[in-house]
Amino acid sequence: MSEECAKIAVIGLGNAGLPLAAVVADSGIMVIGVDINEERCRQINRGENPIPEEAGLEELIKQHGGKRLVATSHFEDARGCRTYIVIVPVFVDASNNPDFSIMEKALRSLGKILKKGDLVVLETTFPPGTTQGLVQNRLCESSGLLQNEFFLAYSPERIMTGVSLSRLREFPKVIGGRDEESGILAYQVYKKFICNLHLVSSAKVAEMIKVMEGCYRDVNIALANELFKICQDLGIDFFEARDNANHQFCHIHLPSTGVGGHCIPVYPWFLIKEMEKREHFSNCRLLSVSREVNDEMIRYWAERILLECMKINKPLFSIKICIKGITFRAGVKEFYHSRNLALARLLMEKGLDAYVYDPLLSEHDVQTKGLCYIEPDKADLLFDPFLLKFEYP
Ligand SMILES: NC(=O)c1ccc[n+]([C@@H]2O[C@H](COP(=O)([O-])OP(=O)(O)OC[C@H]3O[C@@H](n4cnc5c(N)ncnc54)[C@H](O)[C@@H]3O)[C@@H](O)[C@H]2O)c1
Repeated sequence: MSEECAKIAVIGLGNAGLPLAAVVADSGIMVIGVDINEERCRQINRGENPIPEEAGLEELIKQHGGKRLVATSHFEDARGCRTYIVIVPVFVDASNNPDFSIMEKALRSLGKILKKGDLVVLETTFPPGTTQGLVQNRLCESSGLLQNEFFLAYSPERIMTGVSLSRLREFPKVIGGRDEESGILAYQVYKKFICNLHLVSSAKVAEMIKVMEGCYRDVNIALANELFKICQDLGIDFFEARDNANHQFCHIHLPSTGVGGHCIPVYPWFLIKEMEKREHFSNCRLLSVSREVNDEMIRYWAERILLECMKINKPLFSIKICIKGITFRAGVKEFYHSRNLALARLLMEKGLDAYVYDPLLSEHDVQTKGLCYIEPDKADLLFDPFLLKFEYP
């Protein structure tokens, strides 16, 4: 393979795409990163890391940014590559149906530079069947190529913001092709930068693996939330019971205020909506109920907060309640589907004197979300949504 052919393009340099691009560059391969965010591209090319919470990324961007990892907002600059990895988001809309608009736009731009014999690998999580369906169709339409004139595969991103580099280097990664040839070629290319790589029988299986993992976690968290509430009713310490219940064959997750972020609360909908389309409602009852159980946890915690307020010798509506953390997960400055943010808003809607403190946010950050900021020691009641603990400063 010539130097030019060995180049890999990573399309989408976000929280998932940038760590991947950095790991590919670090393996010695030249990477062209394409992202519509021009400022992010300039930052990367200056060797500056735009995701400070990602352990180890700073060193890699400093070493390779603008050198072996060149970021650009022009797809044309990636024309010389023979492998294109796409990792831009797919969300769900207000009715929880997958929203492919960002993905379709990226595929249309990619199609314009796609050549015969190129390999395209998708990493975004989406409903099983999308690679061979929507992705292939959009690429054929925009490139003018026939489906057998380019290779197509799927390898789900399995990172977690904060530990993405170690995940990419150690965690098992699966890859599957639209057809056997695509699968084998994609496996050979990925093997150059992913050690723990497993070829599965098809792109559809690889897509299902990732969605399945998200569903398992959502259902497990719903179970933990339900068992937590039952333990509270029965006067049992849930955490003591859980510690001793968990073993090799039993892994009950942790209870919470619900499930947030781009991934776990979204992936069950990919299957629920597909089953609804087929009118196979009974196939996804557990997934649907788990979504409800998790989303309703903010109501449970709002009631618990009200009960705690009753212990304070002050009129209810003058008690300063502080939610200590509104990001969807501790230590990560992201708010997508954050149940902690939703909880703070719910308390305000109820007319309570609710405030927010978050170590990751300034007073201004909190105010721009339409919430009131407070220093923790100025509140009458603190609720830590990550530890599920109350404090009385
Ligand atoms: N972040 C995670 O922890 C994580 C974990 C597992 C899987 N994923 C998967 O990765 C996907 C992407 O997530 P993310 O966290 O990187 O999102 P992100 O929002 O951080 O990044 C997406 C990037 O894509 C860029 N982009 C959007 N449209 C584009 C286009 N047309 N052309 C080029 N670039 C474009 C954006 O500018 C942005 O930089 C998710 O939808 C999910 O399926 C993410």
